[in-house]
Amino acid sequence: MRKRLIISVILCLCLTAAILTGCNNTAKPADQATEVATGAATEAATTADDTKTDGIDYMALVNKTHKLPDNWEDKLETVHMTNSIGDDVEVEKKAYDAYLKLKADLEKDGVTVDLDSARRSVADQQRIMDEFTEQYGKDYALKTVATPGYSEHHTGLALDLYLIIDGKDVTENEDMVQYPEIWEKIHAKLADYGFILRYLEGREYITGYGYEPWHIRYLDNAEIAKEITDKDITFEEYLGTYTGGKAEIDYGTSSIYSEEDLKAAVIQIECKFASYDGCVLKNIRYAGDEAVTEQELERMNTINPDAKYTKVVKFLMDFHTPEDVGDMTFKPDADYNDYGWWLARTDEGGWEIVTFGY
Ligand code: DAL
Ligand code: ZN
Repeated sequence: MRKRLIISVILCLCLTAAILTGCNNTAKPADQATEVATGAATEAATTADDTKTDGIDYMALVNKTHKLPDNWEDKLETVHMTNSIGDDVEVEKKAYDAYLKLKADLEKDGVTVDLDSARRSVADQQRIMDEFTEQYGKDYALKTVATPGYSEHHTGLALDLYLIIDGKDVTENEDMVQYPEIWEKIHAKLADYGFILRYLEGREYITGYGYEPWHIRYLDNAEIAKEITDKDITFEEYLGTYTGGKAEIDYGTSSIYSEEDLKAAVIQIECKFASYDGCVLKNIRYAGDEAVTEQELERMNTINPDAKYTKVVKFLMDFHTPEDVGDMTFKPDADYNDYGWWLARTDEGGWEIVTFGY
């Protein structure tokens, strides 16, 4: 999540600073940074409105098929803090208090975290989506960034953490995943403070997103958070909104692609399917090396002429559609069997779903 946020925040900071004192956006050293973050706890400028008596629903589900509830902002109370890099971060009030307790507890174990991003407006999310799509392609963006209006970040209850290791800010996704043992320590404490880890590894077919060790969600209820964590289930399963099961996956045998490569393509399909509300994906099968042909590659490059793909892969799948297909292009309450999905990539890039059909 970092790069595009930095760009937006730097732009804002530069504009403000340029007006006041000239643009001087030097990142703060980490020891200073902690002070800034902790100090912000007491100095946090609350945007609370005393007339907001009802409060928000801390158990609200926002995902690929559930958008932010209407009038959410009317009840939302947030605070602002400044992180170690000087970014302004807006967080729901109680979630921020809980985060500070979590942070203090982690510090006792020698783990330092800071807040990269919490509440985002729909416009913020659109900017991030555009930047990711431009930089990494549409499908990578779709498994990493929520569609504006459908991001849990809109609630103010989703927090993206980053690590401070030996005084250095570790903020890039690809760097953060290099520290699984630190994330394990962090995840072990989340429930005590009412948080859950939201995008679990291997549950892409439910959440619709790739594994994000940094994205935590505040529930304002440590007991529920513990239950979800102990049962090792997703928020969707806890709320009963996910009723499908995991599709059977057959990677077959390939002398072209490693299983890891094929797995990455399947996750892409699962993430896409999670946005098809009520569709039950029964199985996914590698269509075999014989489907990997120059003609198919050419067809993919004809469909997306700017992509310059060098690899193509085909999967077959069986799925059943719901009675209400909404704006999906499928027939209602129908079985689709041996339905083809074609993905392509460049040598360095990730898989993109190019087309599907019979
Ligand atoms: N990265 C999460 C899915 C979001 O953009 O809300
Ligand atoms: Zn996040």
